[in-house]
Amino acid sequence: MSDVPTVVRTPAELAAVRGEGTVALVPTMGALHDGHVQLMKHARPLAQTVVVSIFVNPTQFAPGEDFEAYPRTLDADLERCDEAGVDVVLLPEVATMYPDGPDSGVVVEPGPLGRVLEGEQRPTHFRGVLTVVAKLFGIVRPDVAVFGEKDFQQLVLIRRMVRELSMGVDVVGCPIVREADGLAMSSRNVYLGADDRARASVLHRALTAGVDAAPRGAEHVLAAARAVLDAEGVVPDYLTLTGPDLDEAVPGQEARLLIAARIGTPRLLDNIGLVLGPTTHEGA
Ligand code: PAJ
Repeated sequence: MSDVPTVVRTPAELAAVRGEGTVALVPTMGALHDGHVQLMKHARPLAQTVVVSIFVNPTQFAPGEDFEAYPRTLDADLERCDEAGVDVVLLPEVATMYPDGPDSGVVVEPGPLGRVLEGEQRPTHFRGVLTVVAKLFGIVRPDVAVFGEKDFQQLVLIRRMVRELSMGVDVVGCPIVREADGLAMSSRNVYLGADDRARASVLHRALTAGVDAAPRGAEHVLAAARAVLDAEGVVPDYLTLTGPDLDEAVPGQEARLLIAARIGTPRLLDNIGLVLGPTTHEGA
C-alpha cells in the first residue's frame, strides 16, 4: 500500500481500505514508544496490510483509574506508525466501539485466569481488554495480531480467547523492549518522577537475579528476586513464578517470573522467561 498510513475512524472506512489480502493488526492505546514500534516492525513482514489501532479503551479502566489522564499523543503516534511502515491507522470513537454505551451490551468474560495477578487488583480489567480486542478483531478481521510480552497475562488471555472462541487469528507475542537501565518501556512511565524513575529499574534487576538463580530451582528464584526488592525497600503487589501459560511452574521446564509494584505514582509491571533447574534437594 502507500507510504503514509491511511487514517480511518469507522468499520465502514476500514472495510473500504482493508482489501482482500492478508492483514496483521497491532492493537494499542497510543502514546506510542519503541515497544509499540517493535510490534509494528514485527507485523510488517507477516501480512500484506498492517493495521494499527489506537483506542484508549474506557472499559478496561475502573472508576478512579487513569482513563482521563492517560497520555494522548496522536500526532507523534501517527509519525511513529509512518516510520514503521504501517498501512492503516484505525482511530475509532468510543461511540463507534460501544454503540450502546460502555456499560451495556455483550462482553467477553475471561474466566478464572482473569481474576488472578492483575485481575486481583483490577477485577474488571481483563473483561474490558478481551471485549475490546474481540471487537477490534471483528472490525479488522486480521489473519494475525501482534501483542507484547510486557503485558504477559493479557497475552495469555488473548491466546485463550482466540482458541476457546475459535476466532481463527494467529496471535504473535513479542519480547519486552527496555530502556538502557532495564526498565520496561510503558506509556505510563511518564508518570514517574525523577527519583522514582531512577529506582524503577529495581524491577528488572529483581527479575534478572531470579534468572541467575533459576538453575537452583523455584524457591531460589523467588528468594533472589525478593532480596533485590528488599534492598530497595520495594514491597511488590505480587512476585510470582508460573508456567508459560500462567499455569504451575514445573522443575526442568520453561517458566515465567512476574512482578507488579507501585513505584511512586504508577504501578509498574514486568516479567521474564527462564528455565528452571531440575528438582533439587532442600538446601542444594
Ligand atoms: P498498550 O498498553 O498501548 O499496549 C499495546 C501493545 O504494546 C500490547 O500488546 C503491549 O503488551 C505492547 N507493549 C507495551 N509496552 C511494551 C514493551 N516495552 N515491549 C514490548 N511490547 C510492549 O495493551 C494495551 O495497550 C491494551 O490493553 C490493548 C491490547 C490495546 C486493548 O485495549
